[in-house]
Amino acid sequence: MAERPYIVGNWKMNGTRSMLSEARAIDRASQRLMKVEVALAPPFTLLHAVHKEVQQIGVGAQDCHPGEDGAFTGDVSASMVLDAGAKFVILGHSERRQAHGEDDALVKAKATAALNAGLRIILCCGESEEIRDAGEAEQFVIDQLKASMPKISGNVGEVLTVAYEPIWAIGTGRTPTADDIGSMHRAIRALLVELYGEETSAAVRILYGGSVNPGNATELLGADEVGGALVGGASLTAESFLGIVLAAA
Ligand code: G3P
Repeated sequence: MAERPYIVGNWKMNGTRSMLSEARAIDRASQRLMKVEVALAPPFTLLHAVHKEVQQIGVGAQDCHPGEDGAFTGDVSASMVLDAGAKFVILGHSERRQAHGEDDALVKAKATAALNAGLRIILCCGESEEIRDAGEAEQFVIDQLKASMPKISGNVGEVLTVAYEPIWAIGTGRTPTADDIGSMHRAIRALLVELYGEETSAAVRILYGGSVNPGNATELLGADEVGGALVGGASLTAESFLGIVLAAA
């Protein structure tokens, strides 16, 4: 596991102000688990409220628009999420690729906008079950990442996190084996070395996401080159999310 594992809760389209107590509890416990970097990505509507409630954990958004502020009804720019208290943004999640037709070029444009605004990015990638069954998962994920990756200058480890989330494992209770996760993460690591050099890319953490829960976290986090987890369903209560944070500590 990474020197400082990164455990990020993606609340997706969940959460009203009643969930601020969960964020507070996660924050309090995280103050005693400094070995782990903990963060939450609530929906836009809770971003500022969660930011105001917490001291220790990071807060991020789940999306941003690729452009500057302007006439884009319903959209939220990178500078707006930064202003609301976000330090990072999750981009390229398969739910946005599938339900909103986001392609690699759009993900790259959003990532460029986020970096220009001063946000860190968590860049997601992952294959469908059909692609895995066809034996093409690694090639697909590497191609997807190459095409979605923004130009990054300077210290890549400070601004980039990659999240590998096989689509078939998201919210299904199914997970790849630790060996399969390890071999995908090694392929992603090799790409990062090719793009940014060995020394610079060493600080980039590669998270695993897809049905991580307190019961399987130790095994999944123990897979080769896993630097943490991007957690959906199990991040919605402090109890289950902290079980995963503890497994990383
Ligand atoms: O971004 C996290 C994610 O897609 C995994 O969701 O509910 O399977 O942990 P879940």
